[in-house]
Amino acid sequence: MARGKFIVFEGLDGAGTTTQCRLLSEWLRSHGRRVHETAEPSEGPIGRMIRQVLREEQLGADDLRMNAQSIAALFAADRADHLKSEIEPALNDGVDIICDRYVHSSLAYQGSEIDLEWVASLNSVMPAPDLIIFVEVPVAVAGARRAARDDEAEIYEADVFQAKVAAGYLTARSMRPHDPVATIDGAGSVEHVQDEIRRVIIERLGLLE
Ligand code: TYD
Repeated sequence: MARGKFIVFEGLDGAGTTTQCRLLSEWLRSHGRRVHETAEPSEGPIGRMIRQVLREEQLGADDLRMNAQSIAALFAADRADHLKSEIEPALNDGVDIICDRYVHSSLAYQGSEIDLEWVASLNSVMPAPDLIIFVEVPVAVAGARRAARDDEAEIYEADVFQAKVAAGYLTARSMRPHDPVATIDGAGSVEHVQDEIRRVIIERLGLLE
């Protein structure tokens, strides 16, 4: 059986990757592919712990803050567990994986706070996806979209930090030049962005032919 395709979405908070992941999954399924949609932090035990940490830090109490090294290690541990328990078995079973965030998020987010080389080495064993779709939006546009949704804010969502993350994504690209990245302009309408993503999927992965 042909192995499934491993497709990752990356972008700033507010870039719209979650919506685009869902629409791409629906489209691939409508063309008869089997698709498993997932995200990092994952739904596994370490991923749940990370979400809790990201929210608790919003309380602002210094003694609740987990240090950035520990958070980076948790993201890497979650990734290793996610690969073994969820991603690899699905790919081996011929199912496509659409994953909201992966290694480049760690390089861009944790690499903005602590030693980038250390973060990169923690992640050096993680296999490259078949395609990384980087949904590019200006920091201000992403900020306006975050402000418009009323979910609970997380520690990385301040505009100043997101500007560092945007630069971090560029660094991530140069650190991992062999990763297959397609950059999509994410500033347009949801439909337009999705059309561009579908075009890239056909062009780069030869799916649906
Ligand atoms: P996010 O995709 O925003 O999840 P949700 O919208 O459901 O809260 O992910 C949560 C945050 O985690 C986001 O700000 C990016 C951050 N993150 C990292 O800092 N490093 C990583 O390796 C990953 C996967 C995510």
